[in-house]
Amino acid sequence: MSKSSELINRINELKKQKNAVILAHYYTSEDVQAVADFLGDSLALSIKAQEIDAPVILFAGVNFMAETAKVLCPEKKVLIPVPEAGCSLAESCQPEEFAAFKAKYPDHTVVSYVNTSVGIKALTDICCTSTNALQVVQSIPADRPIIFGPDRNLGAYIKKLTGRENMVIWNGACTVHEEFSYERLMKLKAQYPAAKVVAHPECPARLLTEADYIGSTAGILTWCGKDQAQEFIVVTEPGILTEMKKRYPQKTFIPAPADQSDCNECRYMKMVNLENILSCLENEAPEVILDEPTRRQAEKAIRNMISIF
Ligand code: 13P
Ligand code: SF4
Repeated sequence: MSKSSELINRINELKKQKNAVILAHYYTSEDVQAVADFLGDSLALSIKAQEIDAPVILFAGVNFMAETAKVLCPEKKVLIPVPEAGCSLAESCQPEEFAAFKAKYPDHTVVSYVNTSVGIKALTDICCTSTNALQVVQSIPADRPIIFGPDRNLGAYIKKLTGRENMVIWNGACTVHEEFSYERLMKLKAQYPAAKVVAHPECPARLLTEADYIGSTAGILTWCGKDQAQEFIVVTEPGILTEMKKRYPQKTFIPAPADQSDCNECRYMKMVNLENILSCLENEAPEVILDEPTRRQAEKAIRNMISIF
């Protein structure tokens, strides 16, 4: 038996023994996705966390996602194999600076992308994900000004779609999506003229103008299934190609290149592997532990988002 089959068997045994469920994001590596009970985008996974009956959740993803699950399910044990698996976007927005920014706009409604720490969510009126950012912003009366954080690209995209001038945007970004190369994308488009371009809204506007479809990971997956095209250039983290190839084996998916590499991986997502998942299940640690008053504040912002749908 190969080393990875042994690890997978042991993980599956422990899941049963401990009544644990593994949630994994589409950006994790293929072998991690193989041990997941549920695979999804950040919105689907946070909703799933609440619906699950099991007392233990292991979150295969980055820190803010595991925190979100704990915020929504404080009674459950939420395990995170690599607590250092952060997020460049979440790190670009620290609570102290965000609180000072917020103080400058006291009459604004604060909308924060879920790619933030629990401390930022606690300073937020309503969270959003890339799946529902447009609907969340549209749910706020047009005359009420908005602070949108932390992603400047998603913020600019929503501002353009809604035409809302009364929206101030925090200057944060995801290094993965910022680093896709416009020039190399144009070359790929010339090489595959029949291919459609799908992009995540965390990409800069220049790249988004080249996209046939802009959406969250879940949105991109659905759209590629419905569209007649057979080839797609994918401008988001290439982990999503695992699910794309599984769902649509007859179609071709081409990862968009960055300046320095032929695809651009999220190094945080790729920190999670079968070894650290097994060790986390065996030890039931590391576990997400949150300060209760902060958790309660953050929960309001996430529940305000969920209640819209
Ligand atoms: P989704 O909301 O599409 O899951 O994206 C999460 C993310 O981290 C994008 O970089
Ligand atoms: Fe964060 Fe970007 Fe990685 Fe998504 S791809 S988890 S936003 S660093």
